[in-house]
Amino acid sequence: MNTNDLKETPHIKPNGVEIAETILLPGDPLRAKFIAENYLENPVLFNEVRGMLGYTGEYKGKKVSVMGTGMGSPSMAIYSWELINVFGVKNLIRIGSCGAMQTNIKLYDIILAMGAATNSNFAHQFDLPGQMPITASYELLEKAKKVADEKNYKVFVGNVLSSDVFYSANKTTATEKWAKMGILAEEMETTSLYLNAASAGVKALTILTVSDHMITHEQTTPEERQTSFTKMMEIALDIV
Ligand code: ADE
Repeated sequence: MNTNDLKETPHIKPNGVEIAETILLPGDPLRAKFIAENYLENPVLFNEVRGMLGYTGEYKGKKVSVMGTGMGSPSMAIYSWELINVFGVKNLIRIGSCGAMQTNIKLYDIILAMGAATNSNFAHQFDLPGQMPITASYELLEKAKKVADEKNYKVFVGNVLSSDVFYSANKTTATEKWAKMGILAEEMETTSLYLNAASAGVKALTILTVSDHMITHEQTTPEERQTSFTKMMEIALDIV
């Protein structure tokens, strides 16, 4: 028996399979399958509702889960909320891609998202009497930086933009303004992940690989992404 026995939500039905306290969260559910099959020992499928595949296995003797989140704030918000508040997940590590906003950051570079700026209204629901800083767990961030340093993997640590808009009517102007504020890159999920984690007192961190460049407009191919993806994965798993 474990605490997840017989629990289910509208979007996650584990049928009694345990969900570990630490979970890796790629956007793409097929990424979750790839990670489970290639990095985890004894992976067991715990979710396939809406094709959002989730697995629990072991890494270096420790239980770890991996599950897709889909794209954008609402999708991340749904899955992270259920994982935290129904299944008791305590450490949530998003591993995703982003568009770089600074010229010193190149394709395939890795970013640890210390904080998130956002154009989303997600924080509104908490009805706070002011602005809330949207930040990573310092503990996970510090561990990730340490692991990267030990492996000699260069990482950028800083703020990212969680945008609700991928195809924007005025992307160039918006990008210039955020870049001027030192934002390293744009992605779409960190704000809802960090705020859901903060509201429940659990830990979250986003690790990103640069898949495209918003200033130079360079793009990677899915095949080329594999190497930097492997480095990002190694950092995430070694935090576990
Ligand atoms: N994910 C990867 N690249 C992105 C971009 N340019 N904007 C938002 N999310 C992304």
